Amino acid sequence: MGGIRIVGWGTALPDKVITNADLEARLDTTDEWITERSGIRERRVGGTTTELAVGAGRAALAKAGLEPTNVDLLVLATTTPDQAVPATSAAVSHELGLHCGGFDLNAACAGFVYSLVAASGMATGHIRNVLLIGSETLSRVTDWEDRSTAVLFADGAGAVVLQAVEGPGDLLGWDLGLDGSLRPILYADLGGFIVMEGREVFRRAVRATVESATQALRRSGVSADEIALFVPHQANIRIIDAAGQRLGIPRERTAVVLDRTGNTSSASIPLALADAADAGRLSPGDLVLLSGFGAGMTWASAVVRWSA
Ligand code: COA
Repeated sequence: MGGIRIVGWGTALPDKVITNADLEARLDTTDEWITERSGIRERRVGGTTTELAVGAGRAALAKAGLEPTNVDLLVLATTTPDQAVPATSAAVSHELGLHCGGFDLNAACAGFVYSLVAASGMATGHIRNVLLIGSETLSRVTDWEDRSTAVLFADGAGAVVLQAVEGPGDLLGWDLGLDGSLRPILYADLGGFIVMEGREVFRRAVRATVESATQALRRSGVSADEIALFVPHQANIRIIDAAGQRLGIPRERTAVVLDRTGNTSSASIPLALADAADAGRLSPGDLVLLSGFGAGMTWASAVVRWSA
């Protein structure tokens, strides 16, 4: 069995910006509270999960120099599908003009890393190019009257193209986890809004990130010192800093976009990864640690060599 490498990446964000000042004007909150407690300054809202996924997917294919007909598998990580049936990947595939298999994967904010691991395992034989997209419209499941969640969640999409290669490839090691007993601390009922025990999620998130990242590093035979870039799920800067501190990875080696994007669940890791790549923060051979956690509770980490 062969491995994969990342050969393209792309993003899509809605045009509409909602700043903390906008929220301050309509909720019992302040810019100071939101910035201090979460690190978020503004977020993007609008569009459908399909529209954002198509935008990010198209950009990633262009970066990889591939046509839609070159894609052999589509994996869409989302926790906010546009319809109950069919899967949103059906609409995304049609809009992009793909002719291959595809499916949605819902592992909440760990969805992108779950999908990376799943897609990597499938990239063999006739499956050479995989389009992997994380796309979310969390604004549609957020109660904009609830200050405890409205300040955090937003919309966006990020994508990567994985290519099958001979030999072990660039996914060096990974860890996936799920503790369903923690469903009550973060959930949305069908047709309902996100309900969250913020403090409990915070505490669990730091622990899950540290333990899962440590497992992935160990299985990769890589130490935290060797990680050129830590790309954590973009939920809260205090969670990122606490996890980074425990792992021994400083902010200088950490990708952060949440100040501009808010929490975009499955889209947050590819958005942060693409931002770092576009800013020239990644060089061939760099080791990257991806780590996400989310509702379920799920968690997922992966160590990837950047060879793009
Ligand atoms: N503006 C002003 N005050 C707010 C507020 C807001 N937007 N939201 C909550 N508060 C209030 C609370 O009501 C509480 O008031 P009280 O002390 O009078 O009861 C006070 O601020 C402190 O609330 P608390 O929940 O303890 O704050 P916190 O420091 O834990 O920060 C979160 C709240 C939500 C930012 C933080 O817990 C968090 O980020 N948790 C993880 C959430 C997450 O990442 N979810 C997604 C996982 S994928």
